[in-house]
Amino acid sequence: MKFFIDTANLEQIKEANDMGVLDGVTTNPTLMAREGIKGEENCRKHYVDICNIVNGDVSAEVIATDYEGMTREGEELAALHQNIVVKVPCTADGIKAIKYFSGKNIRTNCTLVFSPGQALLAAKAGATYVSPFVGRLDDISSDGVELVGKIVDMYTFYGFDTRVLAASIRSAQHIIQCVEAGADVATCPLAAIKGLLKHPLTDSGLATFLADHQQVNS
Ligand code: E4P
Repeated sequence: MKFFIDTANLEQIKEANDMGVLDGVTTNPTLMAREGIKGEENCRKHYVDICNIVNGDVSAEVIATDYEGMTREGEELAALHQNIVVKVPCTADGIKAIKYFSGKNIRTNCTLVFSPGQALLAAKAGATYVSPFVGRLDDISSDGVELVGKIVDMYTFYGFDTRVLAASIRSAQHIIQCVEAGADVATCPLAAIKGLLKHPLTDSGLATFLADHQQVNS
């Protein structure tokens, strides 16, 4: 199970990387905008800055929505750094672009996936990763973790190489549920990763250990 951090915030990326458990980063246009990064040149510089922090895959999303635009933009993004994975929306042009990229050995992350059928097309086109959006499905009273499990089962049954990257993770509980569903990767906000550490028995146990040590050593 790999951990990616789902942010374009360099401080958070550094903090997660310093924990020693980070395998990569995912970004999207909303996350880039949240950091106030404007313009093509600044976006590309920011992707390189992220790649220089983390030794792992970094998803950079195309803005173009047509096949020609996606392939042109994706090739430019992939040329920025060897760790860039081109993130492509799950549309007809996106699937065609993923097929093109897989023929050029450019790695891809098929994003905005909400159904097994979309995940099937992504895998058949040769996507490196498929990103089912867990939290956004839960938001509409659907079951995001169930979708992750269905995609894992389908890919296992047919022997697809595409990795299942659980996205739109909102909590530590989501991460554990995605582990149980067999996801290859979870991309998570820093708070959800840190949430895995929280347990009251760890806190009270540590307090007792330190108090007992203090008692005999003072
Ligand atoms: C990452 O690849 C996705 O773009 C991201 O996880 C979406 O998360 P959200 O649904 O919280 O915006």
